[in-house]
Amino acid sequence: MTDTVGDLVQRYLLDGGDEDLKRLLEVSESLAEIARTALRRSGIGPGWNVIECGCGPVGALTVLAELVGEPGRVTGVDLNPAAIQRAQSLASSLGLANVRAVVADADDLDSAALGGPFDLAYTRLFLLHQRDAARTLARIATVVRPGGWIIAQEPLRDPTPRSSPEHDSLMPGWHMMADLVTGFSGSDAAADDLPRRAAGSGLEVVRVDGSFAIGRPQRMFPIYAASLDAMRERAIAAGLVTAAELDALTGPLKAAAGGDYDWVTSPFFLDVTMRKPA
Ligand SMILES: C[S@@+](CC[C@H](N)C(=O)[O-])C[C@H]1O[C@@H](n2cnc3c(N)ncnc32)[C@H](O)[C@@H]1O
Repeated sequence: MTDTVGDLVQRYLLDGGDEDLKRLLEVSESLAEIARTALRRSGIGPGWNVIECGCGPVGALTVLAELVGEPGRVTGVDLNPAAIQRAQSLASSLGLANVRAVVADADDLDSAALGGPFDLAYTRLFLLHQRDAARTLARIATVVRPGGWIIAQEPLRDPTPRSSPEHDSLMPGWHMMADLVTGFSGSDAAADDLPRRAAGSGLEVVRVDGSFAIGRPQRMFPIYAASLDAMRERAIAAGLVTAAELDALTGPLKAAAGGDYDWVTSPFFLDVTMRKPA
């Protein structure tokens, strides 16, 4: 039987509720600059037709809209209807008439219905949630024109995010997040393997870079705590973690937002620039 969108959303560890969507808006703001840098490696410019897979409530849609300008077109797809509603209303309130958000499964994209083929597809914090990242990449490639680009920014498990001074819960909190995502999604591909898997699925890996952002402690610590909170219900129900284990990490991370810290990093991303063979 084919999975419905509802089944697929259920299979996704983060709960996709209101708090989770707010967290993703914060994530997008903190990562906008490194998304811009990664996207520019493709030569993206005015008039390009681009898609973001797993865009959440905004993802990099605003950055993409800025880079392709008014003559370009931006399509965001996500499984979660609440996220897509947010993305569409955010784009409308910013007056971005060329941004369209659509509920769709990245594993089952219909190029013509979405306005493809696209010059570029972008994903971030997305492939790690897929059971078979290479297969998902291959599916995404079906909506990209021959010679078109795929840019993926996926977080490494190690090195872990850092702060100054160091916070005792950041490293174990990050490792728990990474392990829960892997355990829940049944994902077989750490970001480390992504270039190899992309090449295996017929894509040309043009370059591999790394990036991270630095954020204010008041913003970043709550993002990490909220990420664990968003996994809470499903991870406990799946027997992957106990409430006490989660609380022992989220409590100190929340408290750190008001503490004496100078900076906190984002996760460390592997930026993979790929092309679909012409
Ligand atoms: C961690 S969030 C990242 C959101 C956004 N890319 C960002 O960086 O802010 C992952 C998103 O991928 C979506 N997602 C997961 N699997 C998907 C699939 N197979 N097709 C479409 N969206 C999917 C989830 O609903 C969620 O909104």
